[in-house]
Amino acid sequence: MKKAINVGLIGFGTVGTGVVKLLHDNAELIKKRLGRNLVIKAIADIDTKRKRSVSLRDEQLTGDAAVILNDPDISIVIELMGGFEPAKSFIIEAMKNRKHVVTANKALLATHGNEIFRVADEEKVNIGFEASVGGTIPIIKTLKESLAANNIKSIWGIMNGTSNYILSKMTEENKPFHDVLREAQELGHAEADPTYDIEGIDTAHKLAIILALSYGKNVCLDDIYCEGISGINRQDIEFARELDYVVKLLAIEIQRDAQIEARIHPTMIPLDHILASVNGNYNAFHVVGDASDSVFLYGQGSGMMPTASAVVSDLIDISRDMEKGIWRRVPLRSYCKNEIDDIQLLPMEEVITNYYFRFSAVDRPGVLSKISGILGAHNISIASVIQKGRKTEGTVPIVMTTHRARESNVQKALDEINKLDMVQGRTVLIRIEDPRLT
Ligand code: HSE
Repeated sequence: MKKAINVGLIGFGTVGTGVVKLLHDNAELIKKRLGRNLVIKAIADIDTKRKRSVSLRDEQLTGDAAVILNDPDISIVIELMGGFEPAKSFIIEAMKNRKHVVTANKALLATHGNEIFRVADEEKVNIGFEASVGGTIPIIKTLKESLAANNIKSIWGIMNGTSNYILSKMTEENKPFHDVLREAQELGHAEADPTYDIEGIDTAHKLAIILALSYGKNVCLDDIYCEGISGINRQDIEFARELDYVVKLLAIEIQRDAQIEARIHPTMIPLDHILASVNGNYNAFHVVGDASDSVFLYGQGSGMMPTASAVVSDLIDISRDMEKGIWRRVPLRSYCKNEIDDIQLLPMEEVITNYYFRFSAVDRPGVLSKISGILGAHNISIASVIQKGRKTEGTVPIVMTTHRARESNVQKALDEINKLDMVQGRTVLIRIEDPRLT
């Protein structure tokens, strides 16, 4: 038997524990597939005392990452500590010491990917990042390898389990956002600080990585339009149901001639849409290639063992390359290094889609015609109207859906409408993706 491949793990939290467990539990299977043992030689974490749900065997547990970074017997470093620093410095140091890297750190790759990938090229090492997007789902490998012959026409994804869990519960149990968020936190489905998840930031990190792989581009995170779910009201979920829609936080990339549309926002989709039945904390990707047509990937976007599965698959990939004497078989961003340039994203104002509006309006003659007049003046054509109840005091909801309209026109029209005396509070806008609407 050939010598084992030694790995160092930095970050012994939930996923790190899963990686150790998986390498223990499936050691024989992995050896049969790789022809060598894959073993963790050392683990570094600031907390060396806390009890984890796995018993260590020969792994050394240390509070000092340098033990791993400076060990010449360690060929691959797994970074699972998250955050920007010291994770970035550790990754760069590992690569400078000619170690391959596996990471799940989407925020780091989305923000500092160019620099990290440049160092990897200079040092001739590989970086595996399958676990950074979609947890266990092999979306990275699918884009880099399985669909490498395709022009990627579009990707529609549910890439954040926390948001999807919250929206699913609001829909199933007719509960308000804050109640569901609190329950999700109590059950461990949401972080104590859920900002990144519920405001779409985590999804933006993932979409930035996916865009780079789809088109071989440098992506500036700030160019991606990003709106989260914290403004979603259960009234809108009920109206969505009445319209045969469901609300999902979608990440959307669409190739439009020379430009790419990339946006993240709560979206109404038809109940029979392939993503409509993706519920709870599951993630899914609907990829359309010009040759492949539709490819649908579905699975756990987070969690100890599902994410560990993706991390260990990267370890196996890198080890297989090492076995063949290759430092990297597949380019990091799927395109040759000299082909990568900056992405041209379509400005959000130029996006054309369908819209749902909920106006809170006083119930008196002429209100509907005033609102529809402003919409018409901005070239926005109404597809349907729902007006419920009659109140002598206060406001009633008026719901409208539109035919395809330009975002800039919609924003201008809503600015005007929101200033009307007969309209109170801000109008709710949710974009609709319904292929049947013109
Ligand atoms: N926080 C993420 C989610 C999982 O809720 O989907 C890790 O990417």
